[in-house]
Amino acid sequence: MRKKLLLGNWKMNGSLHALRDFMAAVIPELRSDVDSGLALPFTLLPELSNLKGGSNFITASQNVSQFEKGAYTGEISLGMIREAGASHSLIGHSERRAIFFETDEIINEKLKRTLAFGINAVLCVGETLEEREAGRAKEVVETQLGKALNGIDVSMLDKLIIAYEPVWAIGTGKTASAEDAEDMCLSSREFIRSLYGNAADEIRILYGGSVNPANIAELFKNPNIDGGLVGGASLKSEDFIAMLERI
Ligand code: PGA
Repeated sequence: MRKKLLLGNWKMNGSLHALRDFMAAVIPELRSDVDSGLALPFTLLPELSNLKGGSNFITASQNVSQFEKGAYTGEISLGMIREAGASHSLIGHSERRAIFFETDEIINEKLKRTLAFGINAVLCVGETLEEREAGRAKEVVETQLGKALNGIDVSMLDKLIIAYEPVWAIGTGKTASAEDAEDMCLSSREFIRSLYGNAADEIRILYGGSVNPANIAELFKNPNIDGGLVGGASLKSEDFIAMLERI
């Protein structure tokens, strides 16, 4: 049985003060039957590790370097995020792909290193509006999955989470219909099954893209949607708590 996961992604937002207020409100509302956490800017990771105390709230980074150490000015390594208390990292978010030119090859390198290092990876995939309108959504997502997973052994899959996030739904207020989201998550699972067999049933596949307290219940009652990666609506504790109640 896959446990549902609500993971907020603050992107380049927030502050120490905002995080302290957020966690003071959220900690008493955590549920034992749902996993939850935040993907934060690197500078906030140690504070989240302190604030979460003994709870199982997840500390995640939004990115990590594909390099181990050395002359890579501005980069943050897996060892550094672990030291900051992160147990998870997003890999290949569409904003990294589109704005920071991360290719499928770079994402594959990051994913391999992250899983080998023992950090859980949330691999983000999704099609653009143009690709969806051309009827290529599944093909695009399968290509992204296939390239990202190249060289990854089945034994590492217990540390892998997938986030299906259609690019056209991110930060736009447009959500995929519950049917389309379920259809894409199901076809992603079937693609993973074609690579790894029934290990695909253990992998959590999240939906992301304008998830909010009003649409979360409808989206996440579907059997192949195992939770959400939530940007804008994860910034306010009252919205996060409302989503946690309805997931
Ligand atoms: P959004 O972002 O919820 O603001 O659409 C989702 C994401 O980018 O992970």
